[in-house]
Amino acid sequence: MSKEVKSVNYGLEKIFEGAQDFLPLLGTDYVEFYVGNAKQAAHFYKTAFGFQSHAYCGLETGSKDRVSYVIKQDKIRLVLTTALKSDSPIGEHVKKHGDGVKVVALWVEDARSAWEETTKRGAKSFMEPTVEKDEHGEVVRAGVYTYGETVHMFVERKNYKGEFMPGFVKWESDYNPTPVGLKYIDHMVGNVGWGEMNTWVKWYEDVMGFVNFLSFDDKQIHTEYSALMSKVMSNGNGRIKFPINEPAEGKKKSQIEEYLDFYEGPGVQHIAVATDNIIQTVSDLRARGVEFLSTPPQAYYDEIPARLGDHMSMMNEKIEDLQKLGILVDADEEGYLLQIFTKPVEDRPTLFYEIIQRMGARGFGAGNFKALFESIEREQERRGTL
Ligand code: FE2
Repeated sequence: MSKEVKSVNYGLEKIFEGAQDFLPLLGTDYVEFYVGNAKQAAHFYKTAFGFQSHAYCGLETGSKDRVSYVIKQDKIRLVLTTALKSDSPIGEHVKKHGDGVKVVALWVEDARSAWEETTKRGAKSFMEPTVEKDEHGEVVRAGVYTYGETVHMFVERKNYKGEFMPGFVKWESDYNPTPVGLKYIDHMVGNVGWGEMNTWVKWYEDVMGFVNFLSFDDKQIHTEYSALMSKVMSNGNGRIKFPINEPAEGKKKSQIEEYLDFYEGPGVQHIAVATDNIIQTVSDLRARGVEFLSTPPQAYYDEIPARLGDHMSMMNEKIEDLQKLGILVDADEEGYLLQIFTKPVEDRPTLFYEIIQRMGARGFGAGNFKALFESIEREQERRGTL
C-alpha cells in the first residue's frame, strides 16, 4: 500500500504566468448532456440536485429534431438534450456512450477569435462561428472537439439579453424544489485512453493555451489493486480547471479503464461543484436520494487531526458530522478542503459528481485518493468489473 500522498505546493500565480492569452476565457458557460430522455433527466436534476427550471426548446418552439431543457443553480447551467428522431447525431451519441456530457461550453468575449486561434493551432472544428438571433439580441457560438466525441463550445453573449439563447423560451414550471446550495463548477475531469494523457495535456497547452499545474503519477494514485495517472490543466486566470486521467497498470482493473469500457471511449468522468456549506448540501442531497460512495473506515477520521496539522484549529466543521455524512477532508499549505463523490448518476458506471467546499486549499484532494479509490473498488467489486 502506498504511503499517504501529501498535497504539493505548486505556486499557482507563477505557473499561470506561463499560460497564453490568445484564448481569454471568462468562465464555464454551460454543460450540455446528450441523454435518452431529457424530460426525465431534468426532473431528476431538479428533484435530486435542486436545479431550477430555466429555459426550453422543443417542438413548441420550432425545434424539429431535438428537445433541450436548461436548468440552473446559482452559476451552474446544465442543458439536457434528447433526439426526437432515430436519425440523429444525438441519438447516435446516446447509443454509443449512454447519457453523457457532449459539450463543455466556455464563455468568451469573442467566439470567432476563439475558434480561429484554436483551429489554427490544430483543433478539429465541431461548428464554425455561427450567429443566432432573436428579439433579445444575438449569441455567437463556435465549437472544437476535445477528447473522444466531447466538444468545447465557445459562447459569446455580450450582445444578448434573453434568458439563455436564441431558440429557447423561458421554462416556467409549477414544480420548483428548493436549491441545495450548489454554486459553480470548480473543475471537470476527463478520462482518456491508455498512454493518451500527455497527448491531451499537450493539446490543452498548444491549442487552448492552458498550463499543467499539478501532476500525479501512478506511484501516488494507487491502491493495492488499481492505479491511474492524472494531470491538472488550467487556463490563464485559473477559472477553468480540467484534470485529465489515464488508466495505469495494477493488479486489477483501473477505475478509468472501467469508465472507458462502458462509455466506449474517452469522456467527462466527473463534474465537481462548489458549495459554501457542504454539511447542509450533502444532508439535503442524501435526503433527496442522491447516492454517495461509501464512508471511509473509522481510521480515516481518526487520522484527520494529524493530517490537517495547523489547519485543524481553523476547521469549522466537527469531524463526527463529516463522518456521519461520509465527507472527506484534505489540506495543503493554504488551507483545507471538504469533498465527497456520488455514485455514477446513470446505469453505466460512467459520469459522477463531486461536491467540494474549499477553505483556502487549492488542490484536488490528493490526500483522499487512496480512501476514495478503495471505496470505488468496493463498488467495482460489486459490479464484477474490478
Ligand atoms: Fe475532482
